[in-house]
Amino acid sequence: MSKPKVYITRKIDATYLKAYQDQLEIRMWEKEEEAVPKETLYQEVADADALFAVLSDTIDEDLLSQAPHLKVVANMAVGYDNIDLAACKAHDVVATNTPDVLSETTADLGFLLMMAAARRLTEANDWVKQDQWQSWAPFYFAGTDIQGKTLGIVGMGRIGEGIAKRAAGFDMNIQYHNRSRKKDAEERLHATYVDFDELLQTSDFIVTVVPHTAETDKMFNQTAFEKMKSSAVFVNISRGKVVDEEALVHALQTGEIRSAGLDVFEEEPIGADHPLVGLKNAVCLPHIGSASVETRTKMIHLCMDNIEAVVSGKEAITPIS
Ligand code: DGY
Repeated sequence: MSKPKVYITRKIDATYLKAYQDQLEIRMWEKEEEAVPKETLYQEVADADALFAVLSDTIDEDLLSQAPHLKVVANMAVGYDNIDLAACKAHDVVATNTPDVLSETTADLGFLLMMAAARRLTEANDWVKQDQWQSWAPFYFAGTDIQGKTLGIVGMGRIGEGIAKRAAGFDMNIQYHNRSRKKDAEERLHATYVDFDELLQTSDFIVTVVPHTAETDKMFNQTAFEKMKSSAVFVNISRGKVVDEEALVHALQTGEIRSAGLDVFEEEPIGADHPLVGLKNAVCLPHIGSASVETRTKMIHLCMDNIEAVVSGKEAITPIS
């Protein structure tokens, strides 16, 4: 009997896939840092039972209509705004993501961006590397403290909670905004629920962890930045599209807010000519929220376990509901 066919849209080292090779026929795009061309992807899904996708792959009606045997799309990310779930349902394709396994690692990056943007880390690092360091000075690269400040978390899911846990260790006052109140989290994390406007107006640090949906699209717009303190540090580790980038550039250029730490952008990848990259008070990273070897290994295994489960007629482990 032939094995179910899996197509992986990025190169993954064979050692991660060894355990699955007896049950599955695995093919993949052989480049790690280059997206699979659309024509190749369409050819490959034509006879695939499972697709292992990454967050920059678009899984829509057009693709699914070319994949008559497809049973599962395993997305190597917790976010899934690259997948048309209605189209998956219509084609009887199970979509899965990788929650939980990446929460702590992504919360680490959120905190790292808060600290980097507060303490001007990349600016200072560039200074040394550009051979500019002449002498010590009392206020050069003086940033702002984290301890004792108020943190506003927008989106109190598992990653938001991870950030709150870390913030408690830095003696921060924690407030959050979420679609619904999470009273258990409030007690565990000593976090206070506030409405969105109050969070914007009263937080020293604002971290967004909301998924990108029609409701959250550009929720951080000109009005939102105008409401923030001029000393505020804004961090985005969710999706670029929750921010109006033009408004953010304006807010950073005009001193409406102090600085920003950004792991995600409206259109990725961005180049060195992107307006945010040119700003000293913006720390820009290439979407590496979950990028530790340990976590990426767990994410690969979770994708493959989901695929194995669905193609063998079992329930997916982490279906997107
Ligand atoms: C995800 O997995 O959706 C996040 O963007 C982590 O980087």
